[in-house]
Amino acid sequence: MSTLLFYDEIDKPGLASLSTYHDIGGYSMLRKALDMEPQAIIEQLLASNVRGRGGAGFAMGRKASFLPKGDMDKYLVCNADESEPGTFKDRELMQKNPHLLIEGMAIASYAIGASRAYIFIRGEYMHQADVLDAAIAEAREAGFLGDRVMGSDYSLELWVHRGAGAYICGEETALLDALEGKRGNPRLKPPFPAIEGLYQGPTLINNVETLMNVPHILRMGGEKFAEIGTSGSTGTKVVCVSGCVRRPGNYEVELGTPTRDIIYGLAGGPPEGRKIKCWFPGGSSAPVLPGTDEYMDLPFDFESIAEAGSMLGSAAIIIVDDSVPIVDVALKTAKFYRHESCGKCTPCREGTNWTVKMLERIENGQATPMDLDIMASVCDQILGNCLCVLGDAMAMPISSMIKHFREEFEEHIEMARERNGLGAAIPVMNRDERGPDRSAEYSAVGH
Ligand SMILES: Cc1cc2nc3c(=O)[nH]c(=O)nc-3n(C[C@H](O)[C@H](O)[C@H](O)COP(=O)(O)O)c2cc1C
Ligand code: SF4
Repeated sequence: MSTLLFYDEIDKPGLASLSTYHDIGGYSMLRKALDMEPQAIIEQLLASNVRGRGGAGFAMGRKASFLPKGDMDKYLVCNADESEPGTFKDRELMQKNPHLLIEGMAIASYAIGASRAYIFIRGEYMHQADVLDAAIAEAREAGFLGDRVMGSDYSLELWVHRGAGAYICGEETALLDALEGKRGNPRLKPPFPAIEGLYQGPTLINNVETLMNVPHILRMGGEKFAEIGTSGSTGTKVVCVSGCVRRPGNYEVELGTPTRDIIYGLAGGPPEGRKIKCWFPGGSSAPVLPGTDEYMDLPFDFESIAEAGSMLGSAAIIIVDDSVPIVDVALKTAKFYRHESCGKCTPCREGTNWTVKMLERIENGQATPMDLDIMASVCDQILGNCLCVLGDAMAMPISSMIKHFREEFEEHIEMARERNGLGAAIPVMNRDERGPDRSAEYSAVGH
């Protein structure tokens, strides 16, 4: 049977209150942590090999070990922006089990020597922010936060900071600028936040779900935790399944669970009579994969999804069935990233805009198949050439759609031209006439 770390008790009545959380052993791992040396906690995180749950999948223990030792002001920041389309797990986790996040943050703060911590939460999550504020007040009142935590020499203040509603503020350095009261624009890296982050102090930034794993890691021990999942993708993952499925929702699975078990087993597969055309494995910024058996049989973990040409990202699976034109999916995706681009760098600002324009030309019957090559080349110019990966977050899925569904794009171009009476259909070139197929290059780029 699959191990559950979060969802075995997530619907327990009253779990969001301190008394219920305390009754099931809550805050006992904070007590344990305070009796340990901070470095010993980091060793446990390293042994667990837990990887970040916010998108990039970087090992939490390694990131925590990058922070310098010493008496300078250090910070812990929880990324609760959760703006990636298709992602809605942090919202449920924070709303139903806020004290697990607070306990995880208190342990992580102690481990890195931070006396101030922040939860940066997306502005639309008003209810979840209220739940967190109430839980923090309870925890402070009970001595789990504030001066001399649980009678120790360690003190910690924790605040909830509500964002103003921009996807880019989920990017860790833009988030730090927003937290400092500035416009949320990404910063040049390096220096990375672990060295120079909030108020120029060393800062550990982690996703909600990553930090909620910390009490579990201390309870089980890092090595035991690492036995869950696969060797490279340890632990469980809350997977958000949405789009054309019968039972959309959040499901916790061990990393490495067959994708088919998640999409068809837990989420019920596509509606009656429909087939899966493609799916985003990790939110809308992940390259799409076809819905064929080969891809359904993939173990759902960081390595397998990367090897297949996509990425696990935030583990938000979005299903597209065969009733949805791929051009519609591409246009919606590109429009989102155009709207959310902060505009700081040219390839992203102009490239997202050009991609939307070219997709609109396809819709309006003004395009030719050559536009697909131009669009792929625009995406190519964005990839790896921007300050942050928001530009790539549009280029990767669009490139993957052209790679896997070129024929459908070409048919769409033909039909739209005929429908709109904008001239005779342009003959579609075959592969030899178009020149070498460069589509493989477009999917070879990681996040
Ligand atoms: C445009 C953009 C948006 C992002 N949005 C989020 C987000 O909403 N939540 C999140 O946890 N990470 C987000 N990330 C990833 C963060 O930059 C960062 O990698 C993450 O918070 C680190 O936490 P983790 O190691 O626990 O995953 C985003 C990255 C980019 C480039
Ligand atoms: S890639 Fe886009 S969002 Fe990121 S810094 Fe450049 S313009 Fe801004």
